[in-house]
Amino acid sequence: MEESLPALRQELQADLCILNGENLADGVGITPKLADKMLASSVDAITLGNHVWRRGEIVPYLKQSERVVRPANLSKRAPGRGLAFVTAAEGTEVAVMNLLGALFIGPPVGPFEVVDELVEEASKRTPVIVLDMHAEATSEKVAMARWLDGKVTAVLGTHTHIQTNDARVQPGGTAAITDAGMTGPHDSVIGVQAELAIRQMRTGMPVRFETASSDIRIEGVLVECGADGRATSCEPVRVSLN
Ligand SMILES: [Fe+2]
Repeated sequence: MEESLPALRQELQADLCILNGENLADGVGITPKLADKMLASSVDAITLGNHVWRRGEIVPYLKQSERVVRPANLSKRAPGRGLAFVTAAEGTEVAVMNLLGALFIGPPVGPFEVVDELVEEASKRTPVIVLDMHAEATSEKVAMARWLDGKVTAVLGTHTHIQTNDARVQPGGTAAITDAGMTGPHDSVIGVQAELAIRQMRTGMPVRFETASSDIRIEGVLVECGADGRATSCEPVRVSLN
């Protein structure tokens, strides 16, 4: 996938590329090596999610990384940052934030408890603000997008891995999609070899999951915005690498 990214980025004329990388390490978590590899292959910032601590070696990396963002609503004692500033190709500074939804994930702090302060902090430096809302419930992702309409550039949902058919620019100028989709093997059950996921569901027995390998696609969303941070378009991206 990382080999295809620079060409796709060029084709889309994207000034910035943000990747949710919480499933990079065989489906769960991220390692410093994988983060470095993606940051070297035209990714500007990496957001994470509920699997943030799955690989222990990422802890010291997160403490010093400027461009890998973990959810902002973790414990206040957790290492890493929930907000990062990166520079787009044409020089605009972009704030990148990451939050966990409450439903089924149960973060230490609710996303709505911290989001206003986070947006305020980001707004002091730049009007171009992107939130990766990593959540299970479509309602939470839609509610967050509505709450932030006119306050940020984009609220992009992740975690459920199925690209949703609701990419839009809201009336206040905030782009939104409930789920940006999955970059990975689509001949699968959200990345896992289908027969293993089905076996677990049919038997209720523990099954060791393996990552699938066919029908690889890059999925995401392309957002265009002005210098004022207001989005002007929001389009889903789906590219087959087969
Ligand atoms: Fe997740």
